[in-house]
Amino acid sequence: MKTILITGAASGFGKAAAIELAKKGHKVIATTHKQEDIAPLKAETAAMGLNIEVFKLDVTMEIDRAKAEAYDVDVLVNNAGLGIMGSLAEVPVDVVRKAFEVNVFGPMELTKLVLKNIMRKQRGTVIFISSVAGRLPGAFGNPYGMTKFALSAGAAALRKEIHQVAKNVHISIIELGPYDTGFNKKMFATKYQWMGEDSYFKSIIPDLKKQDEMVLKHIEKDDISGLVKCIVDAAEANKPKLRYVAPITTSAAIKVMRAFGV
Ligand SMILES: NC(=O)c1ccc[n+]([C@@H]2O[C@H](COP(=O)([O-])OP(=O)(O)OC[C@H]3O[C@@H](n4cnc5c(N)ncnc54)[C@H](OP(=O)(O)O)[C@@H]3O)[C@@H](O)[C@H]2O)c1
Repeated sequence: MKTILITGAASGFGKAAAIELAKKGHKVIATTHKQEDIAPLKAETAAMGLNIEVFKLDVTMEIDRAKAEAYDVDVLVNNAGLGIMGSLAEVPVDVVRKAFEVNVFGPMELTKLVLKNIMRKQRGTVIFISSVAGRLPGAFGNPYGMTKFALSAGAAALRKEIHQVAKNVHISIIELGPYDTGFNKKMFATKYQWMGEDSYFKSIIPDLKKQDEMVLKHIEKDDISGLVKCIVDAAEANKPKLRYVAPITTSAAIKVMRAFGV
């Protein structure tokens, strides 16, 4: 039985992973971005007979992150994420900063905090939920893609550093292709916010919207069990891998596109 803390667990992958890990007998601490999401998550999981601890942890807030120090965490799942897209030619730099705060700086601060305990014990795992967007750049995919590139690069380097001094402390990355959690629909819509009357891209907006529709229709089909399995496998393994990729089509797509230099 492990003590597992998950961020962004009010919805999507975080919630699904919290439920699955609790069903497997782990002590799960499911944290939410917003205070008002605590009660519904507690009620839903209690109705399943699960005893999951829930509290608010906005990864960008020091006072919230500090709450994690009260727990003897074995596994940290950095799942919280913010999806913001657009062209770097037009997205305000403050918006890029905000995306980095949520997707990179907050998780790194929390990781440093939780690692103190894990390093003391010389055993434990930190998991970062990254994305195919952090391996292959896509048009209008930033700042989201930049944050996931940064997260994946940082996590992979951290793993090598930690392994030099603690063989049983692991850092893993879970790279996901698109799933229908509602995250992509919201994120795709953000790219048009920065395209005003003078936008360089005004003439192609209708085409971009058609492409979005097609992609969203396609990802409706994916169920998230493969991804949840990756989180469970990484959390439970004695020697978790550096990378887990889901769905399987994403793993193949990364290899093919890299082979063609995309
Ligand atoms: N769905 C996909 O296709 C996909 C693909 C690749 C990677 N991912 C990654 O998977 C992770 C989970 O995404 P999901 O698809 O499950 O979407 P989701 O349900 O929207 O999950 C994201 C969670 O992060 C929370 N969050 C946002 N800002 C936060 C903050 N400052 N502090 C703490 N929590 C915060 C959100 O809470 P609020 O809604 O209350 O803000 C939400 O519960 C994200 O890191 C995402 O980048 C998703």
